[in-house]
Amino acid sequence: MITQVASSVESLTLRINGKDVSCRAGDTILQAVRDNDMELPTLCWLEGLTVWGGCRLCMVEIAGSPKLHAACATACQEGMEVQTDSDRLHRYRRMIVELLLAERNHICSVCVSNGHCELQSLAQKLGIDHVRFAYRNPQLEVDNSHDRMRLDHNRCILCTRCVRVCAEVEGARTKDVKGRGVLAAIIHDLDQPWGESETCTSCGKCVNVCPTGALTHRGVAVGEMTKKLAFLPYLTLMREANP
Ligand code: FES
Repeated sequence: MITQVASSVESLTLRINGKDVSCRAGDTILQAVRDNDMELPTLCWLEGLTVWGGCRLCMVEIAGSPKLHAACATACQEGMEVQTDSDRLHRYRRMIVELLLAERNHICSVCVSNGHCELQSLAQKLGIDHVRFAYRNPQLEVDNSHDRMRLDHNRCILCTRCVRVCAEVEGARTKDVKGRGVLAAIIHDLDQPWGESETCTSCGKCVNVCPTGALTHRGVAVGEMTKKLAFLPYLTLMREANP
């Protein structure tokens, strides 16, 4: 049986894609995979933020378990046999990305993040040249009320990176998610325009961790918006060094 409880031993040995690897007790499968230079796609996970486990792109197969497991939210166990790449996983990952593309309005050719978007590069990597599901084409708003930043709900994939960085790193807790399912949306304070928020510090961390063109700076043209993520592992390191 697979549990998510860390073993008490210091170091573990497990097998990933047929290769014996070792990791620290308490490491997640995702950490073990990446520490051993293997690839595993992620969208909601980001080093320095708590685990959300929402996008399910990091799903892996574990021998002895019929279901798939999110590698970012599953601890390694001694002797575990993990498969990160298979036809089944590829099929599911492709389907997840296609559903994300169909759910809102991801029109890359007119997006400020065109060419610098994690969703777009993942779709390219997975060979997605068309979407098999009907586009929902929802009528969603763009929050232009902040004088330096913009939230375009059409591009949001609800990974909640912005919500977590705002609460866990900046400590402002301005952002949150309202609603459920396809009606879920990022909000500011008590669902008021971003520019009217009394808690937002305008730090811009949310913009930089956003994987798509949902959160951007104002005044950038198509393809000009690049994100700077380096601050997050740096801040995490400094906090660990100075608790
Ligand atoms: Fe693991 Fe999103 S990265 S569920």
